[in-house]
Amino acid sequence: MTTRRVWAPGRVNLIGDHTDTTGGLVLPMAIDLGIALEVEPLPRRISLTSDAQPEPLELDLPVVDPRTVRPAWGRYVAGVAAQLESTDGVRGTVTSTLPQGAGLSSSAALEVAAALALGGPSDPRELAALCRDAEEAASGVPCGIMDQLTSAAGVEGHALLIDCHTLDITPIPLPPSVAITVVHSGQERELAGSAYAERRAQCEAAEAVIGPLRAATSEDLARLEDPVIRRRARHVVSENDRVRRAARALVDGDLGTLGEAMARSHASLRDDFEVSTPVLDELVEELSAMPGVVGARLTGAGFGGCVVVAHDPGVAPGAGRRAWRVRASAGATVA
Ligand code: GLA
Repeated sequence: MTTRRVWAPGRVNLIGDHTDTTGGLVLPMAIDLGIALEVEPLPRRISLTSDAQPEPLELDLPVVDPRTVRPAWGRYVAGVAAQLESTDGVRGTVTSTLPQGAGLSSSAALEVAAALALGGPSDPRELAALCRDAEEAASGVPCGIMDQLTSAAGVEGHALLIDCHTLDITPIPLPPSVAITVVHSGQERELAGSAYAERRAQCEAAEAVIGPLRAATSEDLARLEDPVIRRRARHVVSENDRVRRAARALVDGDLGTLGEAMARSHASLRDDFEVSTPVLDELVEELSAMPGVVGARLTGAGFGGCVVVAHDPGVAPGAGRRAWRVRASAGATVA
C-alpha cells in the first residue's frame, strides 16, 4: 500500500495583524515547528491517532457537520474533508512539534497537512483558500488567509510579504543579524472567536462608508463618524503602512526602523484595535527593554497568546519563559 508523508509548518507573524481580512498586507514566516502526517488510503473513513492528543479521530465519510465532530481536534480534519467532499479517507498518525493553542497556527498546519494527505490541491493559493474555508467551517471563526497561506507557501530563510487581496507573495530575506523568538504570555487566548468576528464586522462597517480599507487614506478615515469604527479602520490603514516599512527595513538591514514599526504595531493593536491585554502589554514592554532586542509585539489574533521578538542572535529574550526560537522554514511538503 502506498504511504503518503506530509509535513506542514506553523507560522509566526512578524507584523501586519488584523489586516488579512480586508485584503491588506501581512509579513509572516513559516517556522521550523509543524505537523507531520503519515497515512495510507482507507475507504470511506478517516482514522488518525495523534501524539499530541489523548483521543484518536474516527470519522465516517462523507462528513456531515465538522462542528459536531469529536474529539474537537478532529474538526479541522473534518472541515478539510468536507471542503474536499472526500468520500475515501486515510488511516495513519499525526506527529506534532508545534505547541497547541499558542498562537503558532497549529490548526492551520493541521488543515494544510490533512488537505495534502487527502489529495487536496498542490497549488499553495488553492490549498490555502480551501483550508481557510475549512477553518471557518470547523470553528465558526471568520478568519483570513494568512495562516494557511504561510503554511502552504513558506520560503526557507525568508518572511513572506503577502498582499491578501491579490495573494501576491514577495519573499523577504531575513538578515543574519536578526533572530526571531516567540514568547508565550501565559494567558490562553480567550474570547478570540467572538471578538475576532466583531472586529471583522467593524472593519466591514468602515468599508461600507469609505470603501476598501486597503486603499483608504487618512482623509477617508476622517469621514468615519463613529469613533470606535474610525479607530478600528485607523489600525488597519496604519498597519498596512507599517508592514511596507518593516519589509523595506528588513531588505535594507535597517533594524531601527523595523523595531519602531513593531512597537507602533503593538500600540495600534492595543489602543485602536483593542485586541491586547494588560499581560501582553507588560510582556512587550519588558522584552522591548532587554539588551539586544530590536522589537517586540503581540502576534496573531491577540486576546492573550504570544509575543514575537526580533533580536540579536547573541541574546535569548525568552529565557526562563515558555518560548520558542524559530527559523524561517519552507512551506508544506508531500512525499
Ligand atoms: C488569526 C487569523 C488570521 C489573522 C490573524 C490576525 O490568526 O486566523 O487570519 O486575521 O488572526 O492577524
